[in-house]
Formats: sequence, structure tokens, C-alpha cells
Amino acid sequence: MIIKISKDLKKEEIWAQGVELASIMGKDRVKGKRVITFPEKDKMFVTSIKNPVLITDNYKIAQLNPTLRDTLFSLFSSKHRIFEYDGVITISDASHVNVWSPSIDTVLFAKGLANIFQTKKNFKTAVEIGTGSGFLGKYTLAKCGSLEEMLVIDINPYAIKSAMDNIKDPRAVFFTGDGIKKIKNQKFDLIICNPPYVPRPKSIDDNPYEGVGVLNYLIHDGTKNLNKGGVFLTNISSLCWGLVMRTKPNLPYKIIAKMRVPLKVNNILNNESWLNYLVRERGLKRKFERGYEYWQEIFIVAFYN
Ligand SMILES: C[S@@+](CC[C@H](N)C(=O)[O-])C[C@H]1O[C@@H](n2cnc3c(N)ncnc32)[C@H](O)[C@@H]1O
Repeated sequence: MIIKISKDLKKEEIWAQGVELASIMGKDRVKGKRVITFPEKDKMFVTSIKNPVLITDNYKIAQLNPTLRDTLFSLFSSKHRIFEYDGVITISDASHVNVWSPSIDTVLFAKGLANIFQTKKNFKTAVEIGTGSGFLGKYTLAKCGSLEEMLVIDINPYAIKSAMDNIKDPRAVFFTGDGIKKIKNQKFDLIICNPPYVPRPKSIDDNPYEGVGVLNYLIHDGTKNLNKGGVFLTNISSLCWGLVMRTKPNLPYKIIAKMRVPLKVNNILNNESWLNYLVRERGLKRKFERGYEYWQEIFIVAFYN
């Protein structure tokens, strides 16, 4: 399937492509002959969703007419997903095991990056910590022509595989491992990180959503890794704002973009003690709204050196 998000984030388009035309969209014969599959480039528009607050919004999908609903559920379960925002495309497939594919916070982050590049165009060196699919690294390289080198890091080796599959740019250098250890003693003009941001008592900071260790380091000490005039762009959730901003950051900062979104990580929602902690101590609101019980606000924040 193909997911295209409009530049202003107000529209999500869903397209079927390749084999899905024959297996889901009813195009299984051409001129009376059986067709098993179609070339990858063949595509068909299916529907669009207004004002998405999630990339896979099961609630909105469930409100559609039954055929469209079931078509979308089949498309969303496809292991092959093409994601497009502002002319930048990444592909996810079954070889990208447990990789965080582009989500609503990814596109809000990209919108924040575009905003930064409007006023500051002379970044030469950059690093992305926690690249996941590679979308934001690819977006940065595509939109920032002055960049000479970008270090792309993730602790999950399959995320680095995904980033390498998607970023075919000679300026990109890839590293698998802990981003904080890797950037020690290095300086960059631009640091980007859409980090894990859900606090958890005794958290282990090595996965897409749990813990605030990476974020806390970057906000308070990562400034050592920033050249004069450099920018650090990150995503801070209302769930961890009070923790990571409790001590005043050394650098001035500005909120570039924000959005209220449901918290839709099953592993958290199914963990009673973690969920209770978030509700009791981290301000997670429990209020059934637009199909979801738990909501948070995410803020794309730029720190300026
Ligand atoms: C919320 S996901 C963001 C993925 C992607 N940048 C995006 O915006 O779609 C966070 C990513 O950080 C990675 N990660 C978590 N801890 C890390 C660490 N200590 N060093 C490097 N990467 C880390 C995870 O594997 C995951 O891919």
C-alpha cells in the first residue's frame, strides 16, 4: 500500500499498488486472462482520510462502509508499505523487523524540519539518533542541500537496514548502536531525534517508545555535541515534558509544531501498572474521544546554540 500525507498534514491518502490490485482491488483479469500480480509502479487510489491524528486510525476506518473498511484493514496489514510526505518516499517491508515505520509524529517532525530549513540553510554536518525507517534522515538530506555528511544511527540493526535500503545518498553514514555513546566527542550543526518519550519506572532506553534517557541527555548535555549556531530538533510529549524540562535547559528553545494525538502503543495500554503510572503521575488523560481513550500532546521543539 501507499500512504501519502499532504504537506499541511490535513489529508492522508491511501493507495493500493502492485500485487494488491489483483489480490484486494478486484483487478484479477486483464483481457479475460488471469492476472496474479502487477508491477510495483501500478497503483490505484482507494480513499482519503481528513485531519489524521494517527497513520493507522482503526476507529476512523471502522466507521467507513463495510467494503471500504475491510479493504483498508487488508491494505494496512500489508508488510509492504510505501510512505510519502513532501516528495520524500520510504519503503517498509518484512525484512525491517520491529522497525518504527513513519507515524504521525514523524510527519509533524518533518514539518518542523521544513520550518527550520526555511530560515537556516547552511548546515554542513548532521546526525539523526534513532532513525527507525530512515524517513527523517532521508528528508533532511533531501531538503538540506548544504549538508556534506549525515550520520544516521539506530540501536535496532533492522532499522539501520531499513535506513540503508531507503537512503541512497553518498552523504549518509550509518551506525548501529547506542546514539549517545556514538556521538560522544563529536559535534554537529544539526542534531535530530524523534526519541522514545514514554516514561516508565526503571525504564530500559533501547527501544522505540520506552524511556526518556536519550531525550534527557540530548536536552541537557547534547548541547556539547552542537556547533555554535547549530540546532537540535526533537519531539517532547506531554507525558515526559515535566520530567525532561524540570531542570531548565542550557539553550533557548522554541516549540515549532504541536499536535494532540492518541497514545496507541498496545504494549503500554495492555500493561496495567505502566498505564496507571502514566495516568497518576505523568498527566495521561483518560477521556474517550474520537475512538481513543488516552491522549497526549506532542511538541516539536528546536534548541538553538
Ligand atoms: C520513536 S522511534 C522514531 C523513528 C523515526 N526517527 C521516526 O521518526 O519515525 C525512536 C527510534 O529510536 C531508536 N532508539 C532508541 N534508543 C536508542 C538509542 N539509545 N540509540 C539509538 N537509537 C535508539 C529506536 O530503535 C527507534 O527506531
